[in-house]
Amino acid sequence: MPTASPSPQAGQPSPAAAGLLVILGASGDLTKRLLMPALYNLACEGLLPDAFAVVGMALTEQTTAEFRASQRLDIARFTTRKALDENRWRWLESRLHYLPGNFSDPAAYDRLMKLVLEVGQETGAAGNTLIYLAISPDFFVEVNRRLDAAGFTRMPGHKKIIVEKPFGKDLDSAIGLNRDLLAHWREDEIYRIDHYLGKETVQNLLAFRLANPLFAPLWNASHIDHIQISSLETVGVETRGGYYDRTGVVRDMVQNHLLQMLAYVCMEPPTSLDPAAIRDGKSRLLESVRLLDPPAVARDCVRGQYAAGSKPDGSPAVAYRQERDVDPVSNTETFAAIRLQIDNARWAGVPIYLRSGKSLWKRGTEIVVQFRPPASGSAAVEPNLLIFHIQPYQAVEIRMHAKRPGPAFRLQPAGMRFDYAETFEAARGTGYEVLLYAALNNDPTLFSRTDFVETAWRIVQPMLDAWRATPANDFPNYAAGTWGPAAANSLLARDGRRWHENLTRDVLARSEFLATAPAVMLNNLLLAFRPLAVDPGDTIVRAGDRGGEMYFVCRGELEALGRAGERVGRIGEGEFFGEMAVLFDQPRSATVRAVCHCDLLALDAADFHRIANDFAQMQAEFQRIAASRQSHPTAAGEEPS
Ligand code: BG6
Repeated sequence: MPTASPSPQAGQPSPAAAGLLVILGASGDLTKRLLMPALYNLACEGLLPDAFAVVGMALTEQTTAEFRASQRLDIARFTTRKALDENRWRWLESRLHYLPGNFSDPAAYDRLMKLVLEVGQETGAAGNTLIYLAISPDFFVEVNRRLDAAGFTRMPGHKKIIVEKPFGKDLDSAIGLNRDLLAHWREDEIYRIDHYLGKETVQNLLAFRLANPLFAPLWNASHIDHIQISSLETVGVETRGGYYDRTGVVRDMVQNHLLQMLAYVCMEPPTSLDPAAIRDGKSRLLESVRLLDPPAVARDCVRGQYAAGSKPDGSPAVAYRQERDVDPVSNTETFAAIRLQIDNARWAGVPIYLRSGKSLWKRGTEIVVQFRPPASGSAAVEPNLLIFHIQPYQAVEIRMHAKRPGPAFRLQPAGMRFDYAETFEAARGTGYEVLLYAALNNDPTLFSRTDFVETAWRIVQPMLDAWRATPANDFPNYAAGTWGPAAANSLLARDGRRWHENLTRDVLARSEFLATAPAVMLNNLLLAFRPLAVDPGDTIVRAGDRGGEMYFVCRGELEALGRAGERVGRIGEGEFFGEMAVLFDQPRSATVRAVCHCDLLALDAADFHRIANDFAQMQAEFQRIAASRQSHPTAAGEEPS
């Protein structure tokens, strides 16, 4: 017998409406890794109703008892909570039912209908049926036809179909898929999932804009210079080479997750929180994104594919073309950087830069809103930034300037942060909790409508067409574990801008000296460092030039060349170079050239002197380095003059 439902905690929302979740593809990865842990989290919070049950169907031959036993083993592995609460799991487990069935067999759907009616009757969950397609999109058309034939589309009460991404593989297939779905279901019964909308920090984008009128007057082209949306991953394609090679980053991340975030950041404030008002606003925004023609794709879109390199722990990473199930001459992009324009009054002339890729130097999704510099006077002052840290670090941050303590009036970059971990107690979830809870409650706000997905495809289609027609002649063009292809930096440099990388302390910890530096000094450096990616053969400093910056090597190797071009030293990861010219205001005494793709952090002379003045350790360390380079001039790129 099912045990009693845990009651919601004080101040919590109430349990969702009664309902029955039918999962097609219930023995697969999605169910065990995300759906079941999310249901379990909802159960732990008392957010599932007593009248709730799951009916799973998949090819695997197993009984309900065996299905429950396997889900019990899996939840122990995949729960996002520290320990499994036996009572709460039992509550959920007692509501799980299973039926083996082949998706092409009409009789399987009749058996499924019979079980759904029985379980619905028994648990009181009838009248609100959610059918979750946790299956490959290749089966969507057939499965919908058969669900219809078996009567699922004509069930009494609320019924809906939940569809996972990828939603189509291009504009035509998405239109076709919508047509097939709409032949059997009404638009308000189709719930298209984008798991980014399940992320608290993504939902907070809209909350932040609507609940803080402070920012509303600034949210337009008069005050905002440009916006950057980056979703960077350190992982490669792992076990999904076959899927990924047909897909690429534009279909996998940009068409859905990045454009969803763009819509939240740039849409007109909705007139109400009504689902239709929010979804209308998002669609309208995407409709005003200027479509790229072939010359614009060539000019404003950069593609990349990773070569062999290293993983974050320093171990070797293979090239994309060597990954399992990937074509050894594949033209699939694993990185993209795109410049978009929005043609409406609010955003006229404000470029939106999107960027996403696999096998990069760090994992992080961030949205950076860069404000315009002050109209006159302090042109040298860095612009204000508003940064939404979406994941893994979850925060909202304002980069501003503050007066340095002391009698003189001098400014220094500073940050103001709201940090989720320091503000909320909420347990970490999978992101699917909020989506399942909303679907049970018949709330479509977080799900994509036909017009949104089709417009999103319309935006990326010119890129897909141009890149299919012209294979990249420079692939692979970035080493695994770096900041991506240098062309992504040129895309912004051409506009006089640069990507704002969210530097974290672990990057700096590669230097022995910085690993033990005090936190305040590191914070100063993190705010002052400017990331720089260079290609093999690029010259970073030239002998004889005056030195305005010094550099820290995050990744890669460089060589120091004497005046006759002879190699006088090498500079590796965690080392500095160029500091002598800055320290003593003297011309560079050696040329430094990249041997491979390198990721550097540049520090302006003014910031260097400021930080060195404030922190005796930095002074002492650089004097020590200088002294050692004076006695061993070939060590790291600069000889004394
Ligand atoms: C999925 C993509 O939609 O999103 C994956 O198919 C990607 O390739 C993943 O890794 C990223 O999701 P998250 O939540 O880790 O940012």
